[in-house]
Amino acid sequence: MPSATFNFPKKFYWGTATSSHQVEGQNKNNWSVWESSRGKILNGHTSGLACDWWGGRWKEDFDRAAETGQNSHRLSIEWSRIQPEYDRWDEEALDYYREIIRGLISRGIRPMVTLHHFSDPLWFTEVGGWEYADAPVVFMKYVEKVVSAFKPLVKEWITINEPNVYVLCGYLTGTFPPGKKMDLPSAFQVLSNMVQAHALAYHFIHRRQTDAKVGVSINYRGFTPKNHTPRDRWLANVLNSNFNNSFMNAISKGRLKFGLRSNSQKKAKDTFDFVGLNYYTCSQVHLGPYLNRFLSYPEDAVLSDSGFIANQPEHFYQAIEWGASYGKPVIVTENGIENADDSIRPEYLADHIYQLWRAYNNNLPVQGYYHWTLVDNFEWDRGWTQRFGLWGLENKTQKRIRRPSVDFYQEICKKNYLDS
Ligand code: NOJ
Repeated sequence: MPSATFNFPKKFYWGTATSSHQVEGQNKNNWSVWESSRGKILNGHTSGLACDWWGGRWKEDFDRAAETGQNSHRLSIEWSRIQPEYDRWDEEALDYYREIIRGLISRGIRPMVTLHHFSDPLWFTEVGGWEYADAPVVFMKYVEKVVSAFKPLVKEWITINEPNVYVLCGYLTGTFPPGKKMDLPSAFQVLSNMVQAHALAYHFIHRRQTDAKVGVSINYRGFTPKNHTPRDRWLANVLNSNFNNSFMNAISKGRLKFGLRSNSQKKAKDTFDFVGLNYYTCSQVHLGPYLNRFLSYPEDAVLSDSGFIANQPEHFYQAIEWGASYGKPVIVTENGIENADDSIRPEYLADHIYQLWRAYNNNLPVQGYYHWTLVDNFEWDRGWTQRFGLWGLENKTQKRIRRPSVDFYQEICKKNYLDS
């Protein structure tokens, strides 16, 4: 990165992102059941109290966000709390979320709300979850409830977080519930249902709230061929087009492989106001002689705690270009790194925010950046082993530990520029 001052546009959104199951604690949903069955979560960890937001610790964490100049926060609503049974709504839970959202606004932090972030109510999974033919309609009832309740407070909505990861981990690798492995028919069914659910939600929100902005967050991973051979290039292409593009193609062009019936295609077409981009890393891929695929690492790779490449930030620029290619603004709804001792996070931040600036400077329509995450939280199948927070968390005491990266990020948030 050259040394200079890199200014961002006025009203740029700087914040952090979290999700309900990862921070709230005491949830009763498909993840809490998954966590209690042996061998599903690394080291047998459970989410437990998580960051104890349901117990009220969101207040101190929002104070931290506000003090460090963050003007926006992305959080999610836990479906199983709002609708604990198919025919029962929990009005107290709705009220508590209202208090949480107001807690952001009163601190000068604008809320962005995700309606579905990986976890599902148990009654829903019992009827087949996202494989169930009526899943989009069932999900819509919950969306109607939440959006009607919070529309005076929230203008920006993410319908579904990372549908591509939900399908990959739940139906192909089996690391997320329901733990199905290489179940292609179910994977396509779930993807198609999620597209339809998103489209229904998009239209509903716009009917109710004309000034709303609605999108999805896609986990984008740039796959590059290790060698410039036809085999490696083919593999990188297959991965890019299936993992990165499927959902966006469905909601922009109305096209989904093996997916949508024609009336659903029409409804799904052009149902996003911005592209929510979750970007962490890139992968080099190589197709071995026996059609085995494996990831390889460049020689100078700097790796995160779980082995993700951390020093190829130019792939973040490409990810933003990819988002912008859909013709709408791009909001970076997640970007971060698992790095417990904070030895590489400040540089990761500087390098990636520089790429964000470069994108803005080259007229790519970027509007905001949410770092993942505010405070260490429950990292799904990897339990508490991965530490993504600007603040660390001591699980036993709930003590927050300010990492040096906080100082670095707060400079950017407060000044609206990156200084190098
Ligand atoms: C993306 C997911 O949305 C989030 O839940 C997860 O914790 C981060 N990636 C880090 O893996």
